[in-house]
Amino acid sequence: MTARIAVFASGAGSNLEALLQHVGQASSPGFGAYAVALVVSNRVGAGALAIATRHAVSATVLPDPADGQALVNLLGQHEIDIIALAGYLKAIPAAVTDAYRGRALNVHPALLPAFGGRGMYGLRVHRAVIEAGVRVSGVTVHFVDALYDHGPIITQWPVPVRSEDSPETLAHRVLRVEHALYPRVLAAVGTGRVRLDANGRVRGEVFDAGETATFTLQLGEATACA
Ligand code: GRF
Repeated sequence: MTARIAVFASGAGSNLEALLQHVGQASSPGFGAYAVALVVSNRVGAGALAIATRHAVSATVLPDPADGQALVNLLGQHEIDIIALAGYLKAIPAAVTDAYRGRALNVHPALLPAFGGRGMYGLRVHRAVIEAGVRVSGVTVHFVDALYDHGPIITQWPVPVRSEDSPETLAHRVLRVEHALYPRVLAAVGTGRVRLDANGRVRGEVFDAGETATFTLQLGEATACA
C-alpha cells in the first residue's frame, strides 16, 4: 500500500521538491512507497505552496497552527498516514503528535542532539556549528514528539565541516544530503521497514547491507572528507 504523506513546510520547500521527485520511482531501491497527498504551511508566502501548486498537490495554510483538533481533522479528511516536517517552524500540537506517534518525522540540518531546539533553524544552525568549531555536521531524521528536534532518532548522515566553510556553503552541502536521505527514510517508514516500538525505540534500518556504499557514491562531493 502507498503511504499518504502530508509535508509541513514554512520555507522554500526544497525538501518537498526532493520528496516529490522521488514519488513514483518504484524501480529505484528504497523509493516509491509513498505519495505526497497534502502540503501544510503556516505562511501564505511559503515557497513550498508554489511547489505544491506546480505539482497539483492539495495545499493549505493553517489559520491557527496551535489548533490541534482542527489539524487532526484536516489530516483525517486527507487520509494522511505519515507527517513529514520539512522546515516547519511552528510547534506541532500534542493532539497531532499523539495521533501520529511513530508516524510523524522531522529532518534537521545537524547531528542532534547538538545544534537543535527552539530557534535553531536555517542558517542559525550552520553558523552555530562553525562557531563551535566542530569538524563534522550532518543530517538527522527523527520521529517527532512534543519537544522541538527531540524525538527518537531514525538515522543520521555525516557531512564534514571544511575550514573554508561559511554557513551558506555548509548549508548547501547539508541540503544535498537531506534531499537524498529524507525520501529514503520516508519510504522505509511508509513500508514498515523502520518503526517506533512501544518502548519508544526505533526498530529496523533505513539501508540494507551494501546500500550505504551506493548512497555514498550518489552523494559524491557533498560528504567526502577533505
Ligand atoms: C532544511 O534544512 C531542514 O532540515 C530544516 O529546514 C530546512 C528547510 O529547507 N528543518 P527547505 O524549505 O526544505 O528548502
